Amino acid sequence: MRHFTSAYDVPDLPKLLDAALAFKKQPRFRENLGQGRTLGMVFLNPSTRTRISTQIAARNLGMETIVFNASSDGWSLEFGDADVVMNGASVEHIREAARVFGEYFDVLAVRSFPNLQNRDEDFSEKILKQFIEHAGIPVVSLESATLHPLQSFADLLTIKELHLEKRPPRIALTWAPHLKPLPQCVANSFAQWILAWGGAELTIACPPGHELDKKFTAGAKITHDQNAALAGADFVYVKNWSATEPYGQLICDDQNWLLDPEKLAKTNRAKVMHCLPVRRNLELSSAILDSPDAVVVQQAGNRVWAAQAVLAEILKFDT
Ligand code: CP
Repeated sequence: MRHFTSAYDVPDLPKLLDAALAFKKQPRFRENLGQGRTLGMVFLNPSTRTRISTQIAARNLGMETIVFNASSDGWSLEFGDADVVMNGASVEHIREAARVFGEYFDVLAVRSFPNLQNRDEDFSEKILKQFIEHAGIPVVSLESATLHPLQSFADLLTIKELHLEKRPPRIALTWAPHLKPLPQCVANSFAQWILAWGGAELTIACPPGHELDKKFTAGAKITHDQNAALAGADFVYVKNWSATEPYGQLICDDQNWLLDPEKLAKTNRAKVMHCLPVRRNLELSSAILDSPDAVVVQQAGNRVWAAQAVLAEILKFDT
């Protein structure tokens, strides 16, 4: 695997899941694999879990990490065409910056959220693609304009650990209220990974205007009826995302979508998932977050093993 930007970069998903589980049992068993290698982590947006878990994963493989908060520490970057006249706020073009990162690092990891203003631009993954094009080294997405693959891989790992029955798990991905328009990445990515894995039944519940793009959800059931999605579910993934029509807007503040214990009672004693950070009693009720039904911390813990398996796969292939 050269780059890691989506489920479809992974040549053998079951094998990668096994590798992550092996690292969870024995974190340091490949501690020399990354020796002498440096992971550069470039953040255009904030992060807690992704940053720390990926740093721990790299350390477990013997890699050094350098974190660069580009939005606050560095020169402001330009992502326009090569012939753009840079007479505005941006100081350095990605064509130079990414090539410089390629000189300094062996693997580059990048977080670049969508702007939620222009759907075509976000869906083109313009920023991540420019890092890949110009850096000349393997690139790992730490969440891009449309996807959050390290999160989804950790989510899948968590489901695999918890679902011990032979039948496929029934999973509900449900929209939740929020006060800000958020990216669609986590929801897109979760659907993509569950469907690429192929071992589950996935239903996505959302208010009208929030239907995710079929390129991520083809194969899932889509409904506007949250109760129908919850009925009999083994896992409920709770997440807000901004409207898809009109793109990136905040169009629904219906608090009836908040998952509470009464609604959870309709499920098959489902485990409740969220990528974090979560706004208590806006997106998800405290009564659930503080109960054994919530597996959000296990998900966050699994971010380390997911990142470690991905980095190990890239190091084996490329360096
Ligand atoms: N879930 C997740 O990506 O968390 P951070 O934004 O804190 O990295």
